[in-house]
Amino acid sequence: MIDLEIKKVEKSKIDNYDLENLVFGTIFTDHMLIMEYKDEKWEKPKIVPFGEISVNPAMCSLHYGQLGFEGLKAFKTVDDKINIFRIDKNCERFEKTCERLCMPKVPKEIFIEGIKELVSLDRAWIPQKKGSSLYIRPFIFATEPFLGVRPSKTYYYMVILSPVGPYYKEGFNPVKLITSGKYSRTCEGGLGFTKAAANYAISLYPATEAQKKGYTQVLWLDGKEHKYVEEVGTMNFFCVIDGEILTPPIDTGTILPGITRESVIKILNDKGYKVTERRVSIDEIFEANENGKLDEIFGTGTAAVISPVGELAHEDKKIVINNGETGPIAKMLFDEITGIQYGEKPDKYGWNFIIE
Ligand code: COI
Repeated sequence: MIDLEIKKVEKSKIDNYDLENLVFGTIFTDHMLIMEYKDEKWEKPKIVPFGEISVNPAMCSLHYGQLGFEGLKAFKTVDDKINIFRIDKNCERFEKTCERLCMPKVPKEIFIEGIKELVSLDRAWIPQKKGSSLYIRPFIFATEPFLGVRPSKTYYYMVILSPVGPYYKEGFNPVKLITSGKYSRTCEGGLGFTKAAANYAISLYPATEAQKKGYTQVLWLDGKEHKYVEEVGTMNFFCVIDGEILTPPIDTGTILPGITRESVIKILNDKGYKVTERRVSIDEIFEANENGKLDEIFGTGTAAVISPVGELAHEDKKIVINNGETGPIAKMLFDEITGIQYGEKPDKYGWNFIIE
């Protein structure tokens, strides 16, 4: 057990909300976790009522973006337990983000036990409905009031919780993507493999342009040649060409190592599908479509789960995939992964972290 201070709200605000109709990331639970780093060490973590925090306007994360986060989910299982899916993997990835951004690592025990205690305290907020869950957002940011450019000496680590439904307004129906045009998300040696806030800031302008044209999100091509598919705004990319499942490799350091991505590859391999991690050019996808060999495209992510792609645009071309409908592999993966998360299917890989 970790040493944790808890200050509870006097009265929960849960009755003010309709947990049956949720828009992603808009409401927050009663409590949050906060822990301060100073004098080269972490102070005792605290769970306190959710609310505003006071910060110094000179704090360096506001100016230079030393800020990273994670995203994971807690589910109410069919046997009324709480399941936090693959929390250890999020902890590992958070460490990598912290390292790349010169921020102190949050000890694993505090990351895991802190989230467990917070979720347990706010368990009434976990939506019951299938497709809904409690989104967990751990984040860390530099707090030193200092305008020189160097790593901060002080930080806040915080966790907030948000009951959520599907990420996209399309729900789990097919989304429409457009390639990134002249824009790049990252390049080799950059931050692409981390959950640095900067990776999302850089996506906003192209994403807004895409939305104006009627597309849900941007499909990022590589930053060097603008030729190879990398990832979608908030998801990893998969396509099925002539029965073979393809996904870009993450060893380039330019793609987020998605936890749902890794889970999907494991499930597919176990079920005997051929999955190949290799670079896929946008031309190859359009060519496969012309030859009648493009079976499916889908994205994977914590927020997005498995999200089929119904339409893809690149330069002056546009294709409709699988008649704009969810393909069989995306459907199977959605059922498998959500089946494990909600405790309807056996957790044969040991991915569930159950709070009784
Ligand atoms: C997640 O899937 O958890 C993400 O981090 C995407 C988020 C930016 C909405």
